[in-house]
Amino acid sequence: MPPENPVNPVPPAGPPSPAGASPPAPAGTGSKLPVPPATAAARPAAAGAEDLSRRKFLGLISWSGLGWAAFSAASGVGSIATGRFMFPNVLYELPATVKVGPPDDYPSDDVYEKYKDSNGVWIVRDAGQITALITVCTHLGCTPNWLPNEGKIKCPCHGSGFRRNGINFEGPAPRPLERAKIVLLEDGNMMVDKARKFQYEKGEWNDPDSFIPVTA
Ligand code: FES
Repeated sequence: MPPENPVNPVPPAGPPSPAGASPPAPAGTGSKLPVPPATAAARPAAAGAEDLSRRKFLGLISWSGLGWAAFSAASGVGSIATGRFMFPNVLYELPATVKVGPPDDYPSDDVYEKYKDSNGVWIVRDAGQITALITVCTHLGCTPNWLPNEGKIKCPCHGSGFRRNGINFEGPAPRPLERAKIVLLEDGNMMVDKARKFQYEKGEWNDPDSFIPVTA
């Protein structure tokens, strides 16, 4: 009889099994093949990973959707701004001629706005002359505003500034405002005719039809 090993006891020998036979199936499992424990545990883990991936994917889609929406909105605003820059508001089809009253209606050096909206001209008295300045910016055609407190004509579109006499001095406007024809009629009224214009840079402001002399 072999000596007993107290560390690794040898199990008692049982009845021999037939060669190649499987261990008996647990009661109640019938003829179904048993599921390996490792596979059964992996299924919930795989389903969880799949669910996580789907959520990540959906999250990516929604974030990219938000990104595109923001990009589209920014592009739209940019396009509107560009359109505003390239095609500023311009007044068309105002009457070309208008009687603007006698010189005495303009007693001091100033920019008179009575005919700005109706006819697109300022009547300006400055340095011994009355002139009709056309209210169209020489940059891209916006309508500037007379700012009496600052003593200048200022364009709201891109910031061009003009002196009271129409000479440009700041901003992108490349040249002075244009004058319209102004003449003194026999009835004592002045008549403005925008069909004829005078440009400073061409020396046309010396033309006698571009101003009416008054006592300074
Ligand atoms: S239109 Fe550009 S400054 Fe007037």
